Amino acid sequence: MQLHDLPTPALLVERSAFEHNVATMAAARPGVALRPHVKAFKSTALAAELAAAGHRGFCCATAREMVGLAEAGLGDDLLLANELVDPERLGVLAALARDDLARVTVAVDSQATIDAAAVAGIPEVLIDVNVGLPRCGCPPGDAGRLADLARRRGLAVRGVMGYEGHLVGIPERATRESLVAEAMEALVAAHAEVGGEVVSGGGTGTWDCNTWITELQAGSYVLMDTHYGRLDLPFHQGLFLWTTVLSVSDGWAVCDGGLKSLGMDHGDPTIPGADVFFCSDEHITFVPEGHRDTWPRVGDKVRVVPAHIDPTIALHEWLWVVDAEQVLERWPVDLRNW
Ligand SMILES: Cc1ncc(COP(=O)(O)O)c(C=O)c1O
Repeated sequence: MQLHDLPTPALLVERSAFEHNVATMAAARPGVALRPHVKAFKSTALAAELAAAGHRGFCCATAREMVGLAEAGLGDDLLLANELVDPERLGVLAALARDDLARVTVAVDSQATIDAAAVAGIPEVLIDVNVGLPRCGCPPGDAGRLADLARRRGLAVRGVMGYEGHLVGIPERATRESLVAEAMEALVAAHAEVGGEVVSGGGTGTWDCNTWITELQAGSYVLMDTHYGRLDLPFHQGLFLWTTVLSVSDGWAVCDGGLKSLGMDHGDPTIPGADVFFCSDEHITFVPEGHRDTWPRVGDKVRVVPAHIDPTIALHEWLWVVDAEQVLERWPVDLRNW
């Protein structure tokens, strides 16, 4: 199939950029030094490519991601890097471990999450430590107590995790590095109280400056977005929304992507050679650079660069893998929902 035959809007994966990103990361963080975060791409087909590159442990945000990976034969070492208290879903995860479909580890940060994991029969946990992001995680000083409690409840404690999500997007490297050092000091101190072999954390923006962790939880690096594109990272943009121009007036042009096909929490997408004016449900209104005669025409195709990879991919059923004008294959986005 040729790219121009694809119905739009469609999400494209540029194969060469994807391969570059996977190889660059694998060279720096081979094997289990990287635990790719599946929430970024939500596809077992893409995860299988990462497993083939040597990364056999995965990080998940939802029970659905854990179950889908296990069913796809990618259950060597699955971490739910998120708190879960739903007894039914915890029971399903425990059954994956019991049936030898996956090694299952769940993040806990309170007595309630420890109790829920223990009651459900979850075998292993990490103590989730708050390192500054106002989200989940216990205070660093409480990690040792929670680890003791978890062990008393029969859970094996593999170590700690602490995600410095408030720092991964800081564009200035020096600031990013010094704040990550501070955040990781707290995680290392917590780890000394908790024990275990795992110190899990980090993301695409701290892929090379977080040297305190035993495994990096990055996911966005595989295909990137404009938010991370502002940083000095060696990863290439490999994700595009393929759209068709629907209307051109004297002041602007309109294509058929929009709020329903793009994650918008990091702002408008980018169109190279144009200024994006605004997005509505099924439209992007943009002003092309240059003389009006050089503007795209109705029916032309436009590549749009998403601002945030995770919520963009979660809106789509397929990732279309392309090599320039050639469509090579399609990967189902089969790990959506919860
Ligand atoms: C728990 C956790 N770890 C790691 C990441 C890093 O992902 P990214 O590659 O997008 O920086 C995230 C992203 O939000 C996360 O929630």
